[in-house]
Amino acid sequence: MEAFNDFRKQSLPLIEKEMENFINEYTANDHLKTAMLYSIHAGGKRFRPLLVLAVIRSFNKKVQIHDYQVAAALEMIHTYSLIHDDLPAMDDDDLRRGKATNHKVFGEAHAILAGDGLLTAAFQLIAISQIESNQKVLLIQLLSKAAGTQGMVAGQAGDLQGEERSLSLNELADVHEKKTGALIEFALLAGGILAEQPKEVVDLLGRFAQHLGLAFQIKDDLLDATSSEEELGKQVGRDEVLNKSTYPSLLGLDGAKQALDEQLEKGRSTLETIKQTSSEFHLELLLELLEQLQLG
Ligand code: IPE
Ligand code: IPE
Ligand code: MG
Ligand code: MG
Ligand code: MG
Repeated sequence: MEAFNDFRKQSLPLIEKEMENFINEYTANDHLKTAMLYSIHAGGKRFRPLLVLAVIRSFNKKVQIHDYQVAAALEMIHTYSLIHDDLPAMDDDDLRRGKATNHKVFGEAHAILAGDGLLTAAFQLIAISQIESNQKVLLIQLLSKAAGTQGMVAGQAGDLQGEERSLSLNELADVHEKKTGALIEFALLAGGILAEQPKEVVDLLGRFAQHLGLAFQIKDDLLDATSSEEELGKQVGRDEVLNKSTYPSLLGLDGAKQALDEQLEKGRSTLETIKQTSSEFHLELLLELLEQLQLG
């Protein structure tokens, strides 16, 4: 726990700095820059970039500048996805990360552009980093797959379709895997690649990510139904208003909690498998990140 808190305390300012420096230096319109930095500075748990760095540390590797750049790029894509997710045409939310949503402050058109800017900047940041060429191309390929039409964007489309008709549990798991799981999976794969792990180990990290990603969205759906605006920094009860297909709507609160516990248990057991496969691997940091998804 102490090791995790130290890791978090050391990592967060460096992730923030990478995002801020890049946006400040590479944005050619001041209003656009202000809108992008507004959502970046609003905070958030920084779960995905911490995952990238936690994997690298779990293999006892030193975290280098380009690792922070990949982590920052991933958080910029996540932040863009939230700006667009909150737009009136999508989930129509007023509050995010404890502040007014981007479009409430800058208007819809500028919020769309702030999202576009963060998405594109993420790829530019990786492209200009000092990562070895083969690794860089692989990371760009994996990130575009995770963020785009095979991943998050496809999942968001499925999520909206789930407002029109009730999805089956398998269909819903597929939507969750894409809209939320894909970026989380990228975090684990990127960490494994940057830590120069063999394919067998990177594949296991990907398996862990599938449980982590599904657990993450089930918890998000549970909190939407049970938590408060003050605690989450975003509106609650929106999924019901929007008639979303969610784990709680399909399985009830208890069924959804059970599904969350099952994914967390499978995640723990996958960490054990990684430990058995790689003698260099220490599971504590990833276990700590997994346990944060347990309901308090
Ligand atoms: C919210 O993500 C959107 C989902 C994919 C569930 P987070 O819960 O990571 O949001 P922040 O980054 O902490 O604000
Ligand atoms: C969002 O899922 C997933 C994204 C790709 C942004 P939600 O719509 O449930 O996220 P929140 O609850 O608004 O944060
Ligand atoms: Mg949504
Ligand atoms: Mg939403
Ligand atoms: Mg939600």
